Amino acid sequence: MMPWTLVILGMSGDLAKRQILPALYSLYVYYKSRNEQHPFIIIGAGYQNVTVDQIFLEAATYIHKPQQELLEELSALTIYCGLDFADDSSFITLAHEIFKQEKAYQYPGNRIFYCATYSQFFCNITKQLAAHGLIEKGDKNHRVVYEKPFGSDVTSAHHINQCIRNYLNDDQIYRIDHYLTKEIVNNIVLLRFANILFEPLWNNRFINHVHVLIGESIGIEGRGAFYDAHGALKDVFQSHLLQLVALVAMDCPASLSDDDSIRDSKAAILQRIRVVKGILGQYEGYRHEPGVATNSMTETFAAVELAIDNPRWQGVPFYVVTGKHLDHKATEIHLVFKSERTCLFGKTQEADPNILIIRVTHEEGFSLRLNAKKPYTRGTQGQTIPVLMDFCYRCLFGPETPKAYEILFREIIAGEQSIAVRWDEIEYQWSVVDEAKKMNFPLYSYKKGTRGPEQAECFMPSFVPTSFTST
Ligand code: BG6
Repeated sequence: MMPWTLVILGMSGDLAKRQILPALYSLYVYYKSRNEQHPFIIIGAGYQNVTVDQIFLEAATYIHKPQQELLEELSALTIYCGLDFADDSSFITLAHEIFKQEKAYQYPGNRIFYCATYSQFFCNITKQLAAHGLIEKGDKNHRVVYEKPFGSDVTSAHHINQCIRNYLNDDQIYRIDHYLTKEIVNNIVLLRFANILFEPLWNNRFINHVHVLIGESIGIEGRGAFYDAHGALKDVFQSHLLQLVALVAMDCPASLSDDDSIRDSKAAILQRIRVVKGILGQYEGYRHEPGVATNSMTETFAAVELAIDNPRWQGVPFYVVTGKHLDHKATEIHLVFKSERTCLFGKTQEADPNILIIRVTHEEGFSLRLNAKKPYTRGTQGQTIPVLMDFCYRCLFGPETPKAYEILFREIIAGEQSIAVRWDEIEYQWSVVDEAKKMNFPLYSYKKGTRGPEQAECFMPSFVPTSFTST
């Protein structure tokens, strides 16, 4: 399949510098270690008038201990051209550059176009790529990747989807969510279905409620214009959070190795999600961020209660929370089991609930909170103490697992569709957001470096990410 022409549309943007180029650097190092010479060339295009050197200089600050020599090699395999995504004529220049580079390197024309742009350009970009002979419908070696968010509501997402399907078959389309390439996120399915322990308990008879949190200590990181037009509900909630909910709540797929089976199971859940209530927050100072409207009502924090209308989850609330500038960076899922009233030492008492904790960040892994006996107690109350049984990914397998965006490129190059989100999933995800938007949740202000608005505390049962606990 090698070699590939990787075309990054939006190369001068924030995502390219922070995630895409560092991922391509790691990918380059990986292919070099396997003695693959020139496995890919990069053609970047974007609004800004910048040079490859400038872009690489900034990107290098996001690369952990870069090797200068390899970085220079990669930079030499890269060209950049200015492009206005709304101007059809500028695609002529792009096409010319792509064909020229492919001829110079004697590349066969295997192309991956990565749209790291606003979704309002997805349709025109795809149309122009087809018009200039850069992609052909049905050619599996012509792939187009669409960054999230894919649209900004159900209607716009439909429009984009109908448009791109005129030029591409489904197996050439990658609507991506980088959470689906995180090692621990991929592990959720196996944890659930490869361990007989969990499946019998994974329902409303035994589970009291579920928390899903993506808390961030960073803010909007110079993405004011993008963020202000989207907010927490359309940014992280619509994509990563709902995908996590789907993976936790889905029924066992018909097959664990077939992408469509897992997507079928996820879609069945996403279709049954109902929004119960929610509250929003905005951190103090947000309205002074560059690119943000001074009277902005955009939320930087959202806590939403979801219900899943199926027999397994009837009556189990899913509390889904995300926020910027919080006092922690933690992505965690907590399945809180029902408390057991047990007869211990002749006395009936309620034990602390067992909790299964899935940590996507900070010591990625799982922990199971159980009740154990406190040392040196006998026959008295309060003799049990919650303890954690831990699986820490790094401790067992070492720290050198590839980052999400690197895996993403590897999988796209391998033609692996499982890391992409299927259209019906996206459609249901937007329906949930549209429903939440219609409910006009109240918006409160919160101080940076806190847990979000105070009002969020009474909104749901208390929840402490394990990165705060000493255990
Ligand atoms: C992105 C969002 O998709 O995910 C960002 O646009 C967010 O706002 C980021 O910061 C979080 O990803 P991760 O992998 O750092 O948890």
